[in-house]
Amino acid sequence: MHVHIRYTVNLSGHFLTLYILFKFITEMITMKYFVWVGMLTIVVIGFAQLANAEEPAKAELRAKYNIERGKGIYERVCSNCHASGVMDAPKFCDLTDWKPRMAHGMEHLVKHAVEGFNNMPSKGGMESLSVAELSDAVAYMVDQCLVEAK
Ligand code: HEC
Repeated sequence: MHVHIRYTVNLSGHFLTLYILFKFITEMITMKYFVWVGMLTIVVIGFAQLANAEEPAKAELRAKYNIERGKGIYERVCSNCHASGVMDAPKFCDLTDWKPRMAHGMEHLVKHAVEGFNNMPSKGGMESLSVAELSDAVAYMVDQCLVEAK
């Protein structure tokens, strides 16, 4: 009798352990496992983004605009005012001046470069420049600011 009872107790003990183990494994394999992996991925990506907040913006700029061509135009035309800050032009990579301007976005900046804005002459005073060329020049200035901001 005694033996029989013990045997039953032992068996149900093992059964419970096995059941918990089984449950744990199946939960890991199904939904829960993917939820964990997903959450971990989001956390990792989140930290990567925080550490490198400028990277996506820079990559986008470089994909969309010809930064090299912009550099040439900047040096030929725009630097006349923007290098030293003639007529209160925002100085090249003076972040306190450029950050709030950049916050308005590229379209806004290009519009002002094309149409002029206060003391900023339309097309930087070089009427022969196309909108695409001006966009590249603005993109170069913004790109360099983002490099400096790091
Ligand atoms: C004659 C001087 C001068 C030249 C040349 C010049 N700029 Fe400017 N630029 C200015 C001044 C002054 C401002 C500031 C205007 C303001 O915010 O009131 C300015 C502002 C800007 C801004 C910021 C506009 C905004 O929305 O805040 C951009 C972008 C810009 N210039 C691009 C260019 C580009 C590109 C060139 C060359 C093609 C160029 N500039 C050439 C004087 C100049």
